[in-house]
Amino acid sequence: MSSMNTLIISCSLNPKSRSALLAQHAHDILTQLNIDNTILDLRDFDLPLCDASSAYTHPNVAKLAEHINNADAVLLAVPIYNYDANAAAKNLIELTGRAWTEKIVGFLCAAGGHGSYMSIMAMANSLMLDFRCLILPRFVYALENHVNHPEATDQHDSETAFEGFVHPNIDDRIRELCNDLIRLTHGWAQPHPYPTAGTAAKRQNLQPPTTS
Ligand SMILES: Cc1cc2nc3c(=O)[nH]c(=O)nc-3n(C[C@H](O)[C@H](O)[C@H](O)COP(=O)(O)O)c2cc1C
Repeated sequence: MSSMNTLIISCSLNPKSRSALLAQHAHDILTQLNIDNTILDLRDFDLPLCDASSAYTHPNVAKLAEHINNADAVLLAVPIYNYDANAAAKNLIELTGRAWTEKIVGFLCAAGGHGSYMSIMAMANSLMLDFRCLILPRFVYALENHVNHPEATDQHDSETAFEGFVHPNIDDRIRELCNDLIRLTHGWAQPHPYPTAGTAAKRQNLQPPTTS
């Protein structure tokens, strides 16, 4: 297994979640590629709503924050609700806050329609602005007929039917997302070229390259 450590968090609380299947598919692909990865499912974690107070001391919050802290990169599998990521995903970020600092983050979205395509941008922006996360510019956006849930009662018609859990186009997109995640994580792990660039005093010592 590689030295990079990826965390996949499935954020839907629906027992018949489609985004959970996208998460599982990404897990299978990363494992095939020999990338260390852990999959966590929020359905398995009883979590309080963030109250900016005692909720932070809940043992499951500490557990999730530790997983996020230890990860180089995080893939969030999220349902789109009301033109946004679902509340459980946002609550997770509110509860675990600084654990997200400078993580590489990618998204696997399950949605009901094409019209919500840009809905993940609010969450992407907040992770970027609050915690300086590096957001993978490619994300996966799967509609209900792109994912075969084994317990779904609404079957696809024969024209849109496909084998397996995810549509071949979505399989391609997830592979591309994993590919970008690996490339970017390796680059991001390189030593900082200017280790002291964070302070104004030291910054003055940085000289532009000389031209002759
Ligand atoms: C409360 C609620 C709000 C939703 N809002 C949207 C929406 O704004 N845009 C959209 O495309 N789909 C919307 N959907 C459909 C879900 O995104 C879709 O069912 C998706 O499969 C949910 O992911 P999951 O199966 O992983 O839970 C909504 C569904 C629910 C239950």
